Amino acid sequence: MIVLGIETSCDDTSVAVYDSEKGILSNVVSSQLIHAQFGGVYPEIAAREHTKNFLPVLDKALKDANIVLSDIDAIATTFMPGLIVSLVAGVSGAKALSFSVKKPLIPVHHIEAHIFANFIKKEIEYPFLALVVSGGHTELILVKEFEDYIYLGGTLDDAVGEVYDKVARALGLGFPGGPIIDKLAKEGKEVIKFPRPLLNDEENKYNFSFSGLKSAVIREINKGIYKQEDIAKSFQNAVVDVLVKKTVLACKEFGINRVVVAGGVSANSQLREEFLNFKDLEVHFPPMYLCTDNGAMVAYTGYKRFKEKGVAVSLDFEAKARCR
Ligand code: KG4
Ligand code: ZN
Repeated sequence: MIVLGIETSCDDTSVAVYDSEKGILSNVVSSQLIHAQFGGVYPEIAAREHTKNFLPVLDKALKDANIVLSDIDAIATTFMPGLIVSLVAGVSGAKALSFSVKKPLIPVHHIEAHIFANFIKKEIEYPFLALVVSGGHTELILVKEFEDYIYLGGTLDDAVGEVYDKVARALGLGFPGGPIIDKLAKEGKEVIKFPRPLLNDEENKYNFSFSGLKSAVIREINKGIYKQEDIAKSFQNAVVDVLVKKTVLACKEFGINRVVVAGGVSANSQLREEFLNFKDLEVHFPPMYLCTDNGAMVAYTGYKRFKEKGVAVSLDFEAKARCR
């Protein structure tokens, strides 16, 4: 079965082709560098860029996969959550394609796609704890089976990737900030012990809060005392400490020894290293090129839904910014 995957939930326009026998045939990602000058994503600009990029990206995805539109068996598209104007661009494109080539359309949840990006290259057993960390999300989810999830908690304010981007901006570095801070932190040392928010808070043991940490880091940056790399390292130590410890706590409480990390921040080198210290945990990360937003994870998750649940919907479903 050949599935086309479309992803436009934020600032990446991506189209991919997944073949159930051969794997990913193509995965074209067009990142909107235009937002770098603002240090964050401007929704209206993002939507305009998606509309402009969609057809060239689709064309390249088909060419890279060496197929034509009529070879496709189904189309999968991210329909929530995300920036509504960005989602609408991809959902509209997907509906138009589905209508014209008369192939089923499968709506895909963005967070679910991030999690199942881990399954594209290998089999992972259930149950597992999913830690989803991206520019828009910081969530802990207990995955019992495909489509059987228990939401344990999430951020009460900023998402972890968002905080990386804001700290990088305060340091006068580029966008997205995550990879830059990650690299810079390798040369730094912990000079300030920043707070580890909600770490020992019984009521919020599976929730996160990063906006206080962000403000504390920006205050230190503004004082101008410490070197950039030392701030980066001190900040990253706090973030990784919280993410790892809360995940490990959930594993212990639910008696689960398997973790799947997903989303853009799962590319973080220190997060990857620190999880490896827990030898009794089986920890999975997506391949680097599948950490940040991409169409391949959408195509694969759509395929999985179609194969296991046979779900394809009529064309009147809508994009949604938020979801439970
Ligand atoms: O999953 P993603 O592409 O988009 C959303 O769904 O939000 O995640 C993008 C986020 C950005 O905030 C970016 O700074 C962060 O992932 N990121 C990283 C790293 N690579 C990307 N954060 C920390 N370390 C990294 N190496
Ligand atoms: Zn994402």
